[in-house]
Amino acid sequence: MAITVVVGAQWGDEGKGKITDILAEDADLVVRYQGGNNAGHTVVIGDEEFKLHLIPSGILHPDCTCIMADGTVVDPEVLAEEIKCLQERGYSCDNLRVSCNAHVIMPYHRLLDGLAEEARGGKSIGTTRRGIGPAYTDKTARMPQPVRFGDLADGQKLRGLIADQLAQKNVIIQQLYQHPPLNPHEVFEEVWASAQLVSKYAADTHKIVQGSAQAGEQIILEGAQGTFLDLDYGTYPFVTSSHPVAGGACLGTGVGPTAIDQVTLVCKAYTTRVGAGILPTEAPDEAAQELRDRGCEYGTTTGRPRRCGWLDGVVLHSAAMINGATSVALTQLDVLDTLAKIPVCIGYEIEGVLLDTVPAWAEELVKVRPVYEELAGWQQPLGEAREWTQLPPAARAYVERVAEIAGVPVGMISVGPSREQTIIVD
Ligand code: IMP
Repeated sequence: MAITVVVGAQWGDEGKGKITDILAEDADLVVRYQGGNNAGHTVVIGDEEFKLHLIPSGILHPDCTCIMADGTVVDPEVLAEEIKCLQERGYSCDNLRVSCNAHVIMPYHRLLDGLAEEARGGKSIGTTRRGIGPAYTDKTARMPQPVRFGDLADGQKLRGLIADQLAQKNVIIQQLYQHPPLNPHEVFEEVWASAQLVSKYAADTHKIVQGSAQAGEQIILEGAQGTFLDLDYGTYPFVTSSHPVAGGACLGTGVGPTAIDQVTLVCKAYTTRVGAGILPTEAPDEAAQELRDRGCEYGTTTGRPRRCGWLDGVVLHSAAMINGATSVALTQLDVLDTLAKIPVCIGYEIEGVLLDTVPAWAEELVKVRPVYEELAGWQQPLGEAREWTQLPPAARAYVERVAEIAGVPVGMISVGPSREQTIIVD
């Protein structure tokens, strides 16, 4: 395994949490390389369900060190709460480290995210309103100096940084959005309460990751969102503010591209999306609702119903290329159990021309018409299957078609939420 990137093929919510948790069994390090608590990774162990927003999905393996790397953005209040919940369930979180360079999501980022969305009116992005975009915006703006995770240990410094930030932010909050200003003292008190709980997790994570890589340890680099939410490669502007693609793993962790051995592309057996933006294979209401009900397709972070549709082979093929995928982990296959016929999009038609990759120019993408082929359904439950040979022929044919479209083999198949409901394909 050595260094493996786990990356989502679609618009997030592909089931990366479950796949990372399984791979983490043999891993020394699990490193989250981008995003913040806009993500929601669900891991099911026996009867217990864990919803992780910030902490890497390897945390349920106490021998595995879990890192939130430089490329992430961290809300200390959410982190403190997530650690508390895990500790109450018997997971110490002593194996957690957070990069001192990771930027901190502050209360003004959350406020500005919401105010900007309101101001966009009918053109809103549908963000999670967790302050992700404003925190990354400050990171690239650089001045006044934003708060980073390493600053949380020093109350005096933190107070000064907040005052500098609010001197600028309050102008925007008041004059652009006509909202009452934030009080620097109150913001400090709010953040300081959780800063004191989480600052002890700060570390030079780059050094830990490099050391582990040089020692030949097993490392998983875990993305938080999907390929088509990537700031550069996604369906701009309806994207997140960081780089979930496999290349983002290098940026976010400091691991060089030649050190990466495998890229596991996690792809749902159909397609979902939350928030606004194009979804070429969105299904009609009734079919979408059936997928939503069977797949429990409601946002882990915001509870919003996810938009649902058929597998988009153009998206999958493009994602395999963008990420340099070496294998596919196909998830939620059991959700399709009841269908007699399963449409799969195998191309886009745009003004009479057939495309097999996602057009880079978003203005083109809105004009595409999906071209479908129909595969036979298997109409029997897959939840008990543990081996490739236990899958009915129609399900195997579906998986084989997915591999053909992606251009790389399917290495794992998930047929239910628990760890056991996983088929490893030779
Ligand atoms: P933001 O990341 O909160 O700024 O949201 C930008 C877009 O990304 C919105 O459409 C969100 O719904 C979407 N998004 C962000 N994180 C996730 C995720 O983990 N799963 C699915 N969609 C997400």
